Amino acid sequence: MAAPGVGVEPPRPGPSRTAVGLIFSVLLGTWSAQALEMLVGKIPFLEAVNGSTVMLPCTYASCIGIENLYFNWQFNENGTMQKVCDSTIVSESDVPHVTIYRERVEFIGKNRANNISILLWNITFEDGGEYTCFGRNPKEKGKNHSAIFHLIVVDELRVVDKTLTIIIATCVGGAIAALMGFMLLKNLTLFILSKLEEKNKECLVTSSGIDNTENGLSGSKADTKPTPKKK
Ligand SMILES: *[C@@H]1O[C@H](CO)[C@@H](O)[C@H](O)[C@H]1NC(C)=O
Ligand SMILES: *[C@@H]1O[C@H](CO)[C@@H](O)[C@H](O)[C@H]1NC(C)=O
Ligand SMILES: *[C@@H]1O[C@H](CO)[C@@H](O)[C@H](O)[C@H]1NC(C)=O
Ligand SMILES: *[C@@H]1O[C@H](CO)[C@@H](O)[C@H](O)[C@H]1NC(C)=O
Ligand SMILES: *[C@@H]1O[C@H](CO)[C@@H](O)[C@H](O)[C@H]1NC(C)=O
Repeated sequence: MAAPGVGVEPPRPGPSRTAVGLIFSVLLGTWSAQALEMLVGKIPFLEAVNGSTVMLPCTYASCIGIENLYFNWQFNENGTMQKVCDSTIVSESDVPHVTIYRERVEFIGKNRANNISILLWNITFEDGGEYTCFGRNPKEKGKNHSAIFHLIVVDELRVVDKTLTIIIATCVGGAIAALMGFMLLKNLTLFILSKLEEKNKECLVTSSGIDNTENGLSGSKADTKPTPKKK
């Protein structure tokens, strides 16, 4: 009786220990994932006309604080990442000195409220593509974080799209009108058919009814009226 109880007791702390360990590692995992975050905004793309000047937005957020945060902007040129600019931010209040590797680029974020956005002057079609905002906080043992922003460079020929939308709208409108016309026609046909049917029924009812009522009424009137007078 005592032997099974002793045998069962020792393994009990085992599963609870692993559960605690699992919860701990999950908590640690979520904590380390939130350590540093690179953010390019809710809309991670921009469509701009060639020749215009655009801002590529990026900010960083860290709940454990930063120390010598390395950041850079990279441009994906035919599959290879080309450095646009980079720098090391000593502290959150520091205005870093940024090295620029690409022409027409200006660092406008100035680390004001963790802002590391850049400005791209007089954009050309070659500037269109994928930009990566990259950050690495030494406080996290060299963990890499990044966010991607898309720049789409377009011609002024937006009018084509407008005429296309008008054409599409007209087609859709026409289709709806045609459908409505068809429905109306269908309903009208059904209405006429039902009317014709009604008329046919009416004709049948009236023709047979006239005979019945005339006969019945004349017969009953003639029969019922005189009887009360007599009695
Ligand atoms: C944009 O590109 C088009 C077509 O290449 C060109 O005609 C136009 O002048 C360009 N606009 C600017 C502002 O560079
Ligand atoms: C990327 O491709 C374009 C043409 O497709 C070429 O002009 C340019 O030099 C290429 N850039 C690199 C870095 O290979
Ligand atoms: C952008 O273009 C304007 C006008 O073409 C020029 O004055 C200006 O210097 C250019 N800026 C850069 C950074 O190339
Ligand atoms: C970053 O700085 C630029 C230039 O001062 C500003 O236009 C932009 O709104 C800032 N972005 C954020 C998210 O604060
Ligand atoms: C972080 O990125 C660098 C290149 O910028 C690379 O050498 C390094 O291996 C990456 N580290 C991790 C942990 O992915």
